[in-house]
Amino acid sequence: AITRHYKFDIKMQNVTRLCQTKNIVTINGQFPGPRIIAREGDRLVVKVVNHVQYNVSLHWHGVRQLRSGWADGPAYVTQCPIQTGQSYVYNFTVTGQRGTLFWHAHISWLRVTVYGPIVILPKRHASYPFPQPFREVPIIFGEWWKADTETIISQALQTGGAPNISDAYTINGLPGPSYNCSAKDIFKLKVKPGKTYLLRLINAALNDELFFSIANHTLTVVEADAIYVKPFKTQIALISPGQTTNVLLRAKSKVPSTTFAMSARPYATGPAAFDNTTTTGILEYEKSSSASNSTIKKLPLLKAALPKFNDSTFAMKFNKKIRSLASAKFPANVPKKVDRRFFFTVGLGTLPCPQNQACQGPNNTKLAASVNNVSFVQPNIALLQAHFFNKAKGVFTSDFPANPLIKFNYTGTPPRNIMVKNDTKVVVLPFNTSVELVMQDTSIIGAESHPLHLHGFNFFMVGQGIGNFNPNNDPAKFNLVDPAERNTVGVPSGGWVAIRFLADNPGVWFMHCHLEVHTSWGLKMAWVVNDGKGRKQKLPPPPSDLPKC
Ligand code: C2O
Repeated sequence: AITRHYKFDIKMQNVTRLCQTKNIVTINGQFPGPRIIAREGDRLVVKVVNHVQYNVSLHWHGVRQLRSGWADGPAYVTQCPIQTGQSYVYNFTVTGQRGTLFWHAHISWLRVTVYGPIVILPKRHASYPFPQPFREVPIIFGEWWKADTETIISQALQTGGAPNISDAYTINGLPGPSYNCSAKDIFKLKVKPGKTYLLRLINAALNDELFFSIANHTLTVVEADAIYVKPFKTQIALISPGQTTNVLLRAKSKVPSTTFAMSARPYATGPAAFDNTTTTGILEYEKSSSASNSTIKKLPLLKAALPKFNDSTFAMKFNKKIRSLASAKFPANVPKKVDRRFFFTVGLGTLPCPQNQACQGPNNTKLAASVNNVSFVQPNIALLQAHFFNKAKGVFTSDFPANPLIKFNYTGTPPRNIMVKNDTKVVVLPFNTSVELVMQDTSIIGAESHPLHLHGFNFFMVGQGIGNFNPNNDPAKFNLVDPAERNTVGVPSGGWVAIRFLADNPGVWFMHCHLEVHTSWGLKMAWVVNDGKGRKQKLPPPPSDLPKC
């Protein structure tokens, strides 16, 4: 294992999309941001210098950060943001993971333009548990707004209404030809006949889960969230914000007389308006050297077929197909016994409208989102500092409800139990607690799928279902043999998901819906994992350059 150094300069850059130029926050002037490459076991040292007028923090999404919680990055959770003119060195080791992850800004909505891939190769001399691909290509999905970031945030936060929907989805920052004024901004993947490519799919979009398909080609899913899975074939992949999926693409053996669309568009079930447009890239075959180049003509583009925008049956089925390898070499260490059980409702709700404000939620309320009816309020200093230095008083309380305070028919006719309460509550766990958590979608305003992301851990998705979770029958059906091991899971629309994880990582770990608007509305909470007794079971003190608030 080696140490790899990166320098990330946060700076403004003019970028033109859809015929409009915008000054956006970038890393090193690049959009999407630079690619980070490491091998499993390597140490990454990323020096981040903030040259912009905004406070910024960066998160290495899905990196476990074993005993390096100070480098995790969510603002006011593990660190105060890096202020203008200041810098912070993120220093961490990539352990027990190989595949694709990504990094993104973790403050306000800055991740709309500040994101990039993390490629984790197997250890030197280790090989993939699938045929070595000819080439590897990161494909990162995003969203583009013509309006500036502040305008779209304030839309969602000040008035309590739904935010402006984006103007385009993007593949590697490019919207593609289905949008006005975007015919040239198109991602092209050139392939050689007969070769196999590893596509590293990343959903960095703010507010949309996405279907992805390549016309007339089959994808073989081999990895999800930097964990190998049992390979399976599919025409279409579903990928939620926060999720990463590696797929193999085998190019046809002969050069075809068409090009092929690579398309992504939303899977959406919620009550909110969304953009049902399609972003398109092109898969093009390279001519073999023997073929004459004299007849270069424009080839027709074959369209990709995608499911209907609200096809929840497809979503459930797709998520069920993702299984851990559970082999001798790559075992699935599913916790077999459970120390503590939790049941969280996740969903939208409302807050009373502040005085002198016009609110756009139902009945002049302000839209909110919650876990067990607690809409999480970010403190002014980082939770991890408050915890580590025993200064929790006035910052957070440790009484986050393990169960909903009011029981009701969660998937019944809305509205039900609609009011939420603002608070900063956490769950405190002793080191090595084995946790089972059921997350239940609520249809208090309308059923909606929520991609829940847990920092600091991989968890096993042991069960999922439609309707209300039944504690008497459902656990018997849990898969404890080869469940998917992930960091982000879709709580099914009008259904539930059960996960298990071992709290073996001391620190403070954020958990939230990776739809940014839901995070902003409060669909988030934090787990505090205490130090263990052993020397290697404690979180070391913070680095000296940890940003101050
Ligand atoms: Cu990718 Cu807390 O997020």
